[in-house]
Amino acid sequence: MSKAIFITGTGTDIGKTYVSGLLVKKLRSSGLNAGYYKPALSGAEEIAGNLIPGDCKFVADIAGIPLAPQELTSYIYKTAVSPHLASQLEHQPIEARVIQADFNKFSHQYDFLTVEGCGGLVCPLRMDDTILMQTDIIKLLGLDLLVVSSAGLGSINNAVLTAHYAASLGITVKGFILNNYDNTHFLHIDNRNMIERLTKVPVIACVPEHASCLDIDTSALCQLFKEV
Ligand SMILES: Nc1ncnc2c1ncn2[C@@H]1O[C@H](COP(=O)(O)OP(=O)(O)OP(=O)(O)O)[C@@H](O)[C@H]1O
Ligand SMILES: [Mg+2]
Repeated sequence: MSKAIFITGTGTDIGKTYVSGLLVKKLRSSGLNAGYYKPALSGAEEIAGNLIPGDCKFVADIAGIPLAPQELTSYIYKTAVSPHLASQLEHQPIEARVIQADFNKFSHQYDFLTVEGCGGLVCPLRMDDTILMQTDIIKLLGLDLLVVSSAGLGSINNAVLTAHYAASLGITVKGFILNNYDNTHFLHIDNRNMIERLTKVPVIACVPEHASCLDIDTSALCQLFKEV
């Protein structure tokens, strides 16, 4: 029986990959068969003629996944823009059935699969004759969300909007993870409380700057994953 969860953020560059790396590391270092999958990645670096998906490399390195980064994603684009635009410019459209098939492959391979999205929750993957939003993929795969948020000024608005938008589509948010959290900062402490009060969704972990582990009980973390 395999379980999976989808990691989104309140915006791009918010720390989804950093947190995913710590999360998968936590599971694997507890002896669990945990993997990582990123459906599409734009902004890949070209090294010696190969496009390297940086997010996959980061997570594989930190969590000790013995696979090449290219194997952890379905679509790699060089242009550092939204996947719908990168895929259009690079003539490689995203197909939902390819993502579904790769997700199925990984979920058979791993007991706990962490899926990292692109950007924030609202992210177009394809906008030609076919319209494919990231939220369509989340629903297709039947996944719940963990939302990575910043901890400082502006976080309440971004976190609450993300939770409400997910709810409007019938997507469940299991928890928030506050990144770059300073537990001595009155604003961060208040933001944590406000986000929980306003969304009724728990903050399941707070990640300080340069953290090397995720401060959450492993069995509590496992319970957030949903059977797929
Ligand atoms: N807690 C942290 N401590 C130190 N550096 C961090 C932390 N969180 C994120 N970073 C750094 O901030 C940058 C952005 O983080 P990250 O790549 O995880 O964001 P992302 O949401 O995955 O971005 P993208 O939308 O491109 O996938 C990276 O250089 C990452 O190493
Ligand atoms: Mg990332």
